[in-house]
Amino acid sequence: MPAIVNVNGRIVAPQDAAISVFDRGFLYGDSVYEVVRTYREVPFELEAHLRRLGASARRIELELPFDASRLSREVERTLAASRGGDSEDAEAAPWNAGERQARIVVTRGSGEMGLDPGLAVDPALVVIALPLRGPPLRSYREGVSAWPVGRAGSVLRGGDPAAKTGEHLFHVLAVREARSHGAHEALLLDGTGKVAEGASSNVFAVRGDRLVTPPLAAGILAGVTRGVVLDLCRDLGVPVREEELPLAALEEASEAFLTSTVREILPVIRIGARVVGDGRPGKVTERLHAAFRRRADLQARGRVYDSGAKER
Ligand code: PDD
Repeated sequence: MPAIVNVNGRIVAPQDAAISVFDRGFLYGDSVYEVVRTYREVPFELEAHLRRLGASARRIELELPFDASRLSREVERTLAASRGGDSEDAEAAPWNAGERQARIVVTRGSGEMGLDPGLAVDPALVVIALPLRGPPLRSYREGVSAWPVGRAGSVLRGGDPAAKTGEHLFHVLAVREARSHGAHEALLLDGTGKVAEGASSNVFAVRGDRLVTPPLAAGILAGVTRGVVLDLCRDLGVPVREEELPLAALEEASEAFLTSTVREILPVIRIGARVVGDGRPGKVTERLHAAFRRRADLQARGRVYDSGAKER
């Protein structure tokens, strides 16, 4: 079963999945969402993702139709229904074989047309489960390039970067610009030339003997993967600072990487036209990625139950 959809608790094939054209998620991006992935078929950091879904919903005053335990059951049920039938992908990173990603979307619902959220009725829940489409193995071995978008003084994106909402046109256009330059990801700059985050990732740089990543106050999403990496750094004794990251500082870094649920820790070897470090994935990045995957695997085997709660 390559993809399966859960619409308000009803599990159906993709071609039978439908929501109203009056749905505010469709009309206005009036929705919140999460993307989770599995390791050993177990969703990774599901609690953290559902906490963030709740936080995003509160930030836009959207009342979730289900509590976290019901949402988590719906996600598990959808993932279970989507198992099996994967096609071979010779380029995929081998640790992703057989794994799933799930997109959890809650919209404010439909109702009479109009921007006023008071018109909304019947919030909709959609869970889409499909085979994990992570970066190919080559991207981990060779690194990827990232393209800075938004010069100093340019218009900032709208919305609330701390809320994961369906409002995505800015990100879509940023990725279009990055792709037109052959880059994997767009790096979103704030109006003063500092790096905030990627279009769908957080950004880290190795500067001197420490790792640096922009603070939440830079106007970014509190990435679940970012949180796990910060935690891992503490465990491994890797010095890390959350501090502003001017584009020039990122360009001069000895290593750089992106974090996100489907990418895990992905080395960046080029920023715009500038080569990062020696143009190959760096040692700190590789060490953290190995530690990240070990941790994800341990967690999936039930030896660690939640982020931060280590096996004793
Ligand atoms: N995006 N920043 C933005 C703007 C994002 O959209 C995402 C994730 C991240 C990384 O967050 P996490 O580590 O929790 O995945 C940072 C998801 C994966 C997406 O839109 O597909």
